[in-house]
Amino acid sequence: MEIIQTPNYDVMSQRACDLLIETVQQSERPVLGLATGSTPEGLYKQLIEQYESGKVTFKQATTFNLDEYVGLTADDPNSYRYYMDNKLFHHIDLPDDRAFLPKGDASNPEQECRTYETMIQNAGQVDLQVLGLGLNGHIGFNEPGTPFDSRTHVVELDETTRQANARFFASIDDVPTRAITMGINTIMESKKIVLLVSGEKKADAVKQLVNGEVTEEFPASILQKHENVVLIGDEEALSKL
Ligand code: F6R
Repeated sequence: MEIIQTPNYDVMSQRACDLLIETVQQSERPVLGLATGSTPEGLYKQLIEQYESGKVTFKQATTFNLDEYVGLTADDPNSYRYYMDNKLFHHIDLPDDRAFLPKGDASNPEQECRTYETMIQNAGQVDLQVLGLGLNGHIGFNEPGTPFDSRTHVVELDETTRQANARFFASIDDVPTRAITMGINTIMESKKIVLLVSGEKKADAVKQLVNGEVTEEFPASILQKHENVVLIGDEEALSKL
C-alpha cells in the first residue's frame, strides 16, 4: 500500500484529483468507482474546476457509486444520487446514462443488487475506485462482519454508522436502516483503489487498517491484500501510524 501524507485536506483532495484525471486520460473508456460522504467533497470540487478549465473531459467515462440508502428516491436531498448529481454530475460532461448508483427506491432491492453487480461486471474492471473510511472500518456500507467474498448486497446499517450520518438528516429516526452497497469482493476487483482519509477522528481507524490484523471484523483491513492501493491522508488522519 502506498501512503501519501498531505499537509491538509485541500492537498489530499488535489492529489486524489490528479490520480483520477490521470486514469481518465489514460483509458479510452475509463470506469470509475465513486464514493459519497464528507471526505470526497473536495475531490469533486477540484474535478469540476479541472473540467471547467478544459483539462479533462468525462465524455467517455462510466461511473459506479459504492452505495445508496434503501427507500430514498433520487430527488430526496439525502439520497446519494442527489448528492452525486449536485456535487459532481450536473457540473461535468459525464453522460447521464453512464452515471450509475444503485436505485434506492427499487421495488425489489435484492434484485436491484443483482442488476447492479451485473452492470459493473459488464462494464469491465473498475479502473479506479475512490473509497472513504468508516470509523468502524467500513468501506462502502460493508459493516464489520461482512464476508470478504461479498458482492453487491443489501445491508442493515450499524447503529454507529446511522449516528455518524445523522448529521445530514433532520433526526436520527430519519436515517434509513438499510442500504445497498457494492460488496467487498466487488471493490477488491478494481484495478486501483484510492482511499481518502481526513481528520483526527479517523486516526485510530487508519492505524487499524494499515497495521492491524486482516479480519472481517474490520472490513477495510482487506485492502492490505490489494496490490494497487494508494492511501491519501492529511497529517491528522495519519498521526497514529
Ligand atoms: C460513502 C461510503 C462510506 C463513507 C464512509 C466515510 O459512499 O461508502 O463508506 O466513505 O462512511 O464517510 P465520511 O467521508 O463522511 O467520513
